Amino acid sequence: MKNKLIFLAIITISVFFLLVQINCSSKMTKDEQVARGKYLVNIGGCNDCHSPKIMTSMGPVPDTTRLLSGQSSDLRLPPIDTAMIADGKWIITTGDLNAWVGPWGISFAANLTPDSSTGIGLWTPDIFIKAMRQGKHMGSGRDILPPMPWQAIAGLTDKDLDCVFAYLQSIPAISNRVPSPIPPNMIVQMSKKK
Ligand code: HEC
Repeated sequence: MKNKLIFLAIITISVFFLLVQINCSSKMTKDEQVARGKYLVNIGGCNDCHSPKIMTSMGPVPDTTRLLSGQSSDLRLPPIDTAMIADGKWIITTGDLNAWVGPWGISFAANLTPDSSTGIGLWTPDIFIKAMRQGKHMGSGRDILPPMPWQAIAGLTDKDLDCVFAYLQSIPAISNRVPSPIPPNMIVQMSKKK
């Protein structure tokens, strides 16, 4: 009987501490969420593809006045040699790493700033988490194209994805309408035009 009581007491105390722990860690302030999101975005390489760049002698560096605003809307792609992107050959990217050409066509890095009409200002944390987990546009649309590494980002916990989203919503909104992806058959047409 005594043993049973001690056992019950231990269980009760453990559950209590477990609950306190869950409660404490989910109680991040907005500022703490934004700070952790910034840390994750920086080490997650989101700027590599999603920020416009300034070219330096050491290569392209993110343009801090337009961070994470995606492929510029005034799209000026250099001519594309489609023979170079055949199987077993090359994937091509622009010098700012914002536009990518491969067997999937041409994809353009999205505007991740909170602008409500051209960025992700109207997204909810749920839409963001679903998109990163399912690899579907806004969580339920078309497939998200390469080289967006959603398969890797999907490995973050919900809490960390919430933080990434909180940070993205906290940066300056930049109005920049990223062009829609171009399907593979249109690359050929585009190249012929040039
Ligand atoms: C190697 C380049 C690359 C990296 C690194 C990258 N992205 Fe992307 N991302 C893209 C491209 C290209 C698209 C557009 C894909 C498309 O149109 O289907 C995209 C699209 C997105 C979208 C829009 C998805 C949708 O529903 O349409 C979100 C959100 C996003 N990226 C978030 C991130 C975050 C957060 C990080 C960093 C943790 C990141 N990306 C890192 C290239 C990249």
